[in-house]
Amino acid sequence: MSIRNTPAHWGLAARALHWLMAFMIAAQVPLGFWMVDAYDAWLAGSGDGDLVMTLSRIHNTMGFLLLILVAARLVWRLQNPTPDLPAGLAAWQRMTARVTHGLLYGLLVVFPLTGWAALSAYDGEFPIFFFGWDNVFRIVPQATEGSPFTSDLFGEIHETCWKIGTVVLGLHVIGAVWHEHVRRDGVLTRMWRG
Ligand code: HEM
Ligand code: HEM
Repeated sequence: MSIRNTPAHWGLAARALHWLMAFMIAAQVPLGFWMVDAYDAWLAGSGDGDLVMTLSRIHNTMGFLLLILVAARLVWRLQNPTPDLPAGLAAWQRMTARVTHGLLYGLLVVFPLTGWAALSAYDGEFPIFFFGWDNVFRIVPQATEGSPFTSDLFGEIHETCWKIGTVVLGLHVIGAVWHEHVRRDGVLTRMWRG
């Protein structure tokens, strides 16, 4: 079993990164919503501040890990052949696969960066966690009165990533199931078992 890709197969590294990140995102998204709910409840006076901080620590840490993993994944992708799509697909099908994969990579980068920017721009005291560290540097300046780049703006983009991501991921999964059960060309199997 090869670590590297070949022109026909995904290597162990690409497959491990694909499924590890899919698994982390499956946890990260509900965690994000739970964190926002806990924060809103705390603002309304009925919540638990410690819970907000714990969820925030896990969400930030996992988000930063995802950012590191996507960078590693893109570098690895550039240094390896990308397995060809199966023969016989229509031009629009090849295009759909390329565009959805490109969008997924884009979202994997924009998602963590906008979350990080939302906390960086926050015009009060709010920690940016990475594991035990609670003072990660800001990537955009803290917003001041009248500043266009507010925490809310980045928060909105972060949330929009989720809306776009749901559609794109839906297409991605439909594509995978179609390949596996309708076309039976082994595309899902090669991402799973190589
Ligand atoms: C791929 C990585 C990430 C995913 C999939 C993700 C997902 C989510 C989701 C689904 C929400 C709830 C939707 C909402 O109300 O906005 C959320 C909220 C939030 N996330 Fe992330 N997140 C990621 C990375 C990060 C990182 C790295 C940070 C900060 C270091 C972060 C900070 C936040 C903040 C501050 C909110 C609340 C935003 C608001 O409501 O204005 N996220 N995230
Ligand atoms: C958040 C979850 C996921 C993300 C971010 C994601 C992302 C990606 C990306 C970016 C690629 C393109 C690989 C490349 O060309 O370098 C890919 C390939 C693939 N994904 Fe996903 N994926 C996710 C979940 C899933 C799920 C749940 C399935 C199956 C039901 C799946 C099945 C596949 C398959 C079969 C390929 C290989 C396509 C080929 O061999 O050409 N993915 N994924």
